[in-house]
Amino acid sequence: MRVYDLILKKRNGGELTREEIDFLISGYVDGTIPDYQIAALTMAVYFQGMTKNETLELTYAMVRSGDTVSLSKIPGIKVDKHSTGGVGDSTTLVLAPLVAAAGVPVAKMSGRGLGHTGGTLDKLESIPGFKVDLSAAEFFQAVREAGAAVISQSGNLVPADKKLYALRDLTATVDSLPLIAASIMSKKLAAGADALLLDVKTGNGAFLKDPEQSFTLAEAMVEIGTGAGKRTVAIITNMDQPLGRAVGNALEMEEAIRILRGEGPADLEELCLILGGHMLLLAQKSSTAESGAAALKELISSGAALEALRRMITTQHGESRVVDDTSLLPRARHSVTVPAGASGFVCRLKAEAVGLGAMMLGAGRITKESKINLAAGVTLLKKVGDRVESGEALALLHTDHEPASSVVEEVRALISEAYACSREATGPPPLVLGYVDQKGVTRLKNL
Ligand code: URA
Repeated sequence: MRVYDLILKKRNGGELTREEIDFLISGYVDGTIPDYQIAALTMAVYFQGMTKNETLELTYAMVRSGDTVSLSKIPGIKVDKHSTGGVGDSTTLVLAPLVAAAGVPVAKMSGRGLGHTGGTLDKLESIPGFKVDLSAAEFFQAVREAGAAVISQSGNLVPADKKLYALRDLTATVDSLPLIAASIMSKKLAAGADALLLDVKTGNGAFLKDPEQSFTLAEAMVEIGTGAGKRTVAIITNMDQPLGRAVGNALEMEEAIRILRGEGPADLEELCLILGGHMLLLAQKSSTAESGAAALKELISSGAALEALRRMITTQHGESRVVDDTSLLPRARHSVTVPAGASGFVCRLKAEAVGLGAMMLGAGRITKESKINLAAGVTLLKKVGDRVESGEALALLHTDHEPASSVVEEVRALISEAYACSREATGPPPLVLGYVDQKGVTRLKNL
């Protein structure tokens, strides 16, 4: 087999076979195929797409490139949840203890934030002492003891994705649907859960801004998951404005604690209950997603969910008193207000600008190597549908930079421009746009 011929085949719209895809992926990972040939191949895929079969074979070849995790030592149906990335998306921080409190074991590997979207591991690390690097034995023990553990991905899980993603990032081929689907699903399949819930974000702050593309990606991922024998459901959710009120690592950890106390913002709580209800359904702990959501709401009211978080933090060596006293989380030195320029009702709040602003304050990474400030971020005092008076604070910037510094001024302008107001009140946007499962696509909103 010659790499040149396979690039040519794909460039001309041909369909690669399983053997050909295997040859390309294994050769790339072992270094016998150079970056420039795989760069040409990914560009050919970008323009020609991949058939369902090619996407499935690419996913399997990527899974085979490294280690896989077996969760069979943990009894029960393990359900993994994946978000394609959002702003203020602290759902995993809430859902891990919440569904564990309902008796669903959570053995989860998560990632760090990059760019304007946050990462679960960074948020958890804002808890003093919290360890995300556990050995396999410690991981299983933690799930047995606490019902839930969230750790960093082991070093050799899907090495093909690490190499390919870095290359795609440099060659303008990240936003290819088959490559995204294979990248996400190879990591999910290698992580060993029995069933998968995919939260596919769409809108301004999402990776895919066009809802149609998000539905197409969801369909491709559900097909891969189902093809691999895992029950897989995708929920397409709105990321036009950030979720909740907090954007930034410690701020989001604090907000997750407030949700588990029953004191959190309504949109984030509602999304957590919807996602959690589906996780309970996939784990066969409830007969419908709605009854699952109702059971989870009870676990919040009874305090059982908060206790599950306390156990999870203790088991992962963190300071569990944060559950009662969130002032133990890191706090920024300054908080700076962003005032409203006019009175009215907030009709738009661009999630991407808020994520970018939080990143510029130090909450996120510009490159993988960037050091982050766990305390930095933005609190959104007003969101879509809220009434605001001229001069009233729209948002608070949490920063260790001096309030008069150019970076704070820049972020202040960015967040101010992210808001738009109108004279008429508009309701908050719908949280869920639709579902994809093995039976097909359900759209909740005319697109
Ligand atoms: N997230 C991933 O893990 N991979 C992609 O290709 C895009 C988003």
